[in-house]
Amino acid sequence: MLSREENAYLTRTGPDTPMGAFMRRFWMPFMLSQEIAEPDGPPVRVRLLGEDLLAFRDSEGRAALVDRYCPHRRVSLFFGRNEECGIRCVYHGWKFDADGNCVDMPSEPADSNFKDKVKLKSYPVREKAGILWAYMGPAETMGDLPDLEWMAVPDDHRYVSRWYQHSNFAQAVEGEIDSAHVSFLHRKVENDAANKAALTGAYFSGDTAPKWKVVESDFGMTLGARRRVENGGYYWRMNQWFYPFYTMIAPVPSEATTTRMWVPVDDEHVNIICVSYRTDKPVSDDERHRWQNGLNSHAAVIPGTHTPAANESNNYNIDRILQKNETYTGIVGIRAQDAAMTESPGPIVDRSLEHLGTSDTAIIKMRRLLIDGARALERGEEPAAAEDGSLYRVRSYSVVIDTEEDFDERLDIVEAMQVAAAGVQAAE
Ligand code: FES
Ligand SMILES: [Fe+2]
Repeated sequence: MLSREENAYLTRTGPDTPMGAFMRRFWMPFMLSQEIAEPDGPPVRVRLLGEDLLAFRDSEGRAALVDRYCPHRRVSLFFGRNEECGIRCVYHGWKFDADGNCVDMPSEPADSNFKDKVKLKSYPVREKAGILWAYMGPAETMGDLPDLEWMAVPDDHRYVSRWYQHSNFAQAVEGEIDSAHVSFLHRKVENDAANKAALTGAYFSGDTAPKWKVVESDFGMTLGARRRVENGGYYWRMNQWFYPFYTMIAPVPSEATTTRMWVPVDDEHVNIICVSYRTDKPVSDDERHRWQNGLNSHAAVIPGTHTPAANESNNYNIDRILQKNETYTGIVGIRAQDAAMTESPGPIVDRSLEHLGTSDTAIIKMRRLLIDGARALERGEEPAAAEDGSLYRVRSYSVVIDTEEDFDERLDIVEAMQVAAAGVQAAE
């Protein structure tokens, strides 16, 4: 549990909060490049860390992220004209370029220099792997983008989607790194033969109280869970958690690996940008089809929106007959099952009322790392992971071994989790 004060410290990410300042040291993914595909195309509203912003692509193809409200009388630039390398407010015609400079102020006398004194807030933007990233921190501390493995693979080896969740980022991430729930929430019911047949399903349901091993590192932490396998040996799953809110969950053998980035929209909403990728071959049409339909790693959304089709307003389409006879929840889709759990406490869970057990080791650690990181920044210590993207060259992994060793005692496992730098740099 956390005290009420610590809970607020962990979950508040607005501009004037310690956790907000900590997050602003990192590059933030916020939307897909394809959402503002066309130069001079329609601008798109963005909300990020509690700030109302606007994304647009200018005439030269440069992506911009600026304050949504015109500095003149604060009307929304969403209605603006995106033309000739800038966004022009349709109220009185003031125009701003991608850096936020006021380049035209037709409502003032021609000899006025007022426009040189007015600036629209603008954040640096980069595009990588089909994703737009913003840096919202002080210019002097701007570091690298994280060098995650999927940024280096060819475009057809990667599938990216995004959707929203109605909760604080922290409880959404806690749901993701909580490996213990896999044995319950996502399983089929006992009498379902398919459950037994599924290799990892057997691992998960066979040992519902795994041994936990959490190893802290400069990028965040590696979360290992060890389960006994029915026929002997141990099944280790190593998931990664990266500062400030990335997760990489271990794939089952031969499946694609998935990274999720849990970006705070504000303190009660999170923007989930989800990347599934392979290093060995392109993702298949079948995988794409499954992901689009929300059957495992990605959420099915209402067409034309980023709102999951199964959501709190329809009780995630829970089917009580299905729940009795086939699946543990009666909710279809792993993402919907997760969201049902992590949205259900309300947007900011009251952590002072919890009773945490051994299975919550990773969650306790993540809270501590974030709170300690923000406190260190308050003392003037910058987060190393925000400066050095090479720290992110790590992948998740799962393996069956026949000894009782911990995963971090096995050189073969440690090496399997390392990503070669050359591959990542080649994509620059
Ligand atoms: S409010 Fe934007 S130009 Fe006047
Ligand atoms: Fe889950």
